[in-house]
Amino acid sequence: MDTRPIGVYDSGVGGLTGLRALMRMLPGEDFLYFSDSGRMPYGPRPLEELRRIAVQDMDFLAGFDVKAILAACGTISSAAREQLKAYPIPAFGVLTPALDAMAAVPGDGPLAVLATAASIASGEFTEALRKKCGMHREIVGLPCPEFAPTIEAGHIRRSDPVVQGCVARALEPVRERKFDAILLGCTHYGFIEDAIRDYLGEDVPLLSAAECGAKALRDYLEAHDLTGGERCERRFFVSGDVRAFEAFAEPHLNCGPVHAEQVPIMEL
Ligand code: DGL
Repeated sequence: MDTRPIGVYDSGVGGLTGLRALMRMLPGEDFLYFSDSGRMPYGPRPLEELRRIAVQDMDFLAGFDVKAILAACGTISSAAREQLKAYPIPAFGVLTPALDAMAAVPGDGPLAVLATAASIASGEFTEALRKKCGMHREIVGLPCPEFAPTIEAGHIRRSDPVVQGCVARALEPVRERKFDAILLGCTHYGFIEDAIRDYLGEDVPLLSAAECGAKALRDYLEAHDLTGGERCERRFFVSGDVRAFEAFAEPHLNCGPVHAEQVPIMEL
């Protein structure tokens, strides 16, 4: 048993999909969430920067004596795999567990990954999946550069024309295609799942990288007897607009009022 909190971070509100999953899977735990929205978006940044950011964000959480960290961010998970692995506190990303879940999807039809430009360009999702699945299975990677900033700006309703427009622009190339599974490889995308379904079809088989990452962290804590929080406490830290974060997070976490603490933007 370990009563220390679990740290979760992302470039913004996207990682709340991972936090929400963790809160459901491990309801007794204490959590710290860091939204680095002062530096959002991570998606267009070069690899070297993303690696530095990954370590800075983890160092920030480590300052609160967390027992484990979830990088609830597809971009960080794909760019900074080595940095996560080498970190002195157990640190999980969403990439590896999401790839395992995708590779386990039955059938030999095509699989798709929707993610930020950096995640797709790195090849960490698509190339790794190709290797895992074998050459007979088609893997399609689709960058959706507008999604995360649009969601971060609060546009998430399926009836919102801004959401519908950016979903249509990104997914038009695959609208007529059938996939055995489509991975939401950026944690923000879970917030527009409805709009994605409206565009691609209600029964489209979507898989959430955030959910996969949360499961991997839960399994690790359980296997090492590290579960057990003290107060079901949640603390939030934001490097960007605190009020906007609180207004977004409160209805989605559904765990009472969300009061976030302002932190300075870290220099690269
Ligand atoms: N939520 C993020 C991800 O999973 C990052 C989005 C961004 O900052 O571009 O990739």
